[in-house]
Amino acid sequence: MSETVATQIARLRAEIRAHDYRYHVLDAPTIPDAEYDRLFHTLRKLEEEHPELASADSPTQRVGATPVGEFTEVRHAQPMLSLANAFSTADVQEFVARIEQSLGHADIEFSVEPKLDGLAISLRYELGRLVRAATRGDGVTGEDVTHSVRTIKAVPLTLIGDDFPEVLEVRGEVYMPRAGFLAYNQRARERGDKELVNPRNAAAGSVRQQDPRLAAARPLAFFAYGWGELSVPSLGDRHTAVLRRLRDWGLPVAPEADRAQGASGCLAYFDAIGQRRASLPYDIDGVVYKVDRLDWQAELGFVSRAPRWAIAHKFPAEEALTTLLAIDLQVGRTGAVTPVARLEPVFVGGVTVSNATLHNFDEVARKDLRVGDCVVVRRAGDVIPEVARHVPERRPADAQPAPIPTQCPECGSPLARVDGEAVIRCTGGLVCPAQRKEALRHYASRRAINIEGLGEKLVEQLVDAKLVDSIADLYRLDLPVWAGLDRMGERSAARLLSEIDKSKSTTLERFVFALGIRDVGESTAKALARHFGSLDKIIEASERLAPYFADAQALERKEVRKALNTEPIIAVPDIGPVVAQRMWSFFADARNRRIVDELRAAGVRWDEHAPAQATVDGPLSGQTVVLTGTLTSMTREAAGARLEALGAKV
Ligand code: IVH
Repeated sequence: MSETVATQIARLRAEIRAHDYRYHVLDAPTIPDAEYDRLFHTLRKLEEEHPELASADSPTQRVGATPVGEFTEVRHAQPMLSLANAFSTADVQEFVARIEQSLGHADIEFSVEPKLDGLAISLRYELGRLVRAATRGDGVTGEDVTHSVRTIKAVPLTLIGDDFPEVLEVRGEVYMPRAGFLAYNQRARERGDKELVNPRNAAAGSVRQQDPRLAAARPLAFFAYGWGELSVPSLGDRHTAVLRRLRDWGLPVAPEADRAQGASGCLAYFDAIGQRRASLPYDIDGVVYKVDRLDWQAELGFVSRAPRWAIAHKFPAEEALTTLLAIDLQVGRTGAVTPVARLEPVFVGGVTVSNATLHNFDEVARKDLRVGDCVVVRRAGDVIPEVARHVPERRPADAQPAPIPTQCPECGSPLARVDGEAVIRCTGGLVCPAQRKEALRHYASRRAINIEGLGEKLVEQLVDAKLVDSIADLYRLDLPVWAGLDRMGERSAARLLSEIDKSKSTTLERFVFALGIRDVGESTAKALARHFGSLDKIIEASERLAPYFADAQALERKEVRKALNTEPIIAVPDIGPVVAQRMWSFFADARNRRIVDELRAAGVRWDEHAPAQATVDGPLSGQTVVLTGTLTSMTREAAGARLEALGAKV
């Protein structure tokens, strides 16, 4: 009896899935690629002839037909944490000793795993079917990237077996194998297309594409290393045992993952993997140690955003030699002019580096760097590459020391150096386009006023087209202006306008941070907001400082210095004379105060409250409470206020 088409299709799908599993999970394919392609082709043809038998889980259906619009947000049922880092043997020994002490046990066993350099992803399976893939995002909310992740052959669309839980959220890393990366770039070079910068960026960039065909065209892969939400209480009693189960269900786990005992076992693993690093088929930037027993993991718990039971042991920075071609100048948000090294491109620590920071001119002098020098470039993980030193034996005879600049490269204003500071600054203030761009970008950024969609590219256009002079001007632009910008349509302009409108209601601490006052970071802004409760009080306290700072010599007199210590602003935690001076000079500048007034006039509002009082009497009097981690049912501010009302010091 001949097979019905339906059973033939089902058989082909199962057969292809089994080959996928052997290839991606077991790393032991049993048929040649050409045979696999033939099976795939037959299946696709049958499905085309019988559209009524289509299924989203079919191996042929990895690439969806159409690009998604925007990414939707996904709230992680359990936050996706990050890892603390260890950089030395001593760090690892300390980590293990701490755990042994907390648990009261020696010879702890660890799951030891390569630390893949890619993009963290959460995969949600319901009844064994992949229903959603999301990026880590900020750990609490990520982006829905199901359309891209479905195209990754190593990610099973359906799980194998029947003992998986109804809901299984698998966590792991999407990465680009080195061979795939090199082959892709080879082809790109031949075609004159743009090459990928490094496997890590390539993985992240491919997944975060709206068009799934782009991800499908990139050789991506996946390794599972953990899990999130489950519909069952547990998957086992050890991390390594759970990884084995994930593997049995069809999820690839790094074959190098292993188990080790105590600090010495972990360190031996680190050395062994380090030896093999260059020959591994993928990039890693270290290894990860995790307490294997899950009951012990639970006992150890978390600190802020990282578990106490795991640590990433990073490989040391990598170095390479190259030529210093030029020393260029970059102007930052605060007008700081930093020297940047332009380098003969060199491959170091997994990326091609052609620029590196030189920090400041004192550093350039200290390292005696000259254009034409042979220099050592150093790069550690995601850290910005830097020029470590020059090689004296290789200095060309005509190498020239770089002069210290006197004029801003952006606006021509004179540069000034504050005594005792290494930094040289442009005196142009908002006249200087570099500072204007940075001020806008900072104002709109997520942790400041948070105008989603107002990125660097738009800010550049706004300033270059002279549409805005200050952050307050953002609220003046109307729909046609926004829609007229490059790569903006009516719809995105309308969306942006509504984001801008949303940003008008904010908190005092965000507002103060968003102003971009030098040295006033998030925590200082928060301390100011809590202490004074209103912007006017902050301004008043800042303006009171004129007698100390308006006259450069004033602070040299002892009684004046003493008087400064009694100023209300100095009573704010973390605020000393330096930040006080920044506050004064910011609000003493009429242009800045006008901007604040304009923002208010544009409708920007924040919560104002009574200044923080000495703690009240209540059930928690005399107790200090620290809020860490992610709060789900109320904001941190609200929780803090409630605790304070009960008498606690937060
Ligand atoms: S475990 C609660 N295991 O490293 C622990 N992470 O620095 C969460 N990573 O965001 C992570 N390989 O993207 C873990 N074997 C591994 C890993 C790994 C790479 C990445 C992951 C995470 C980051 C944390």
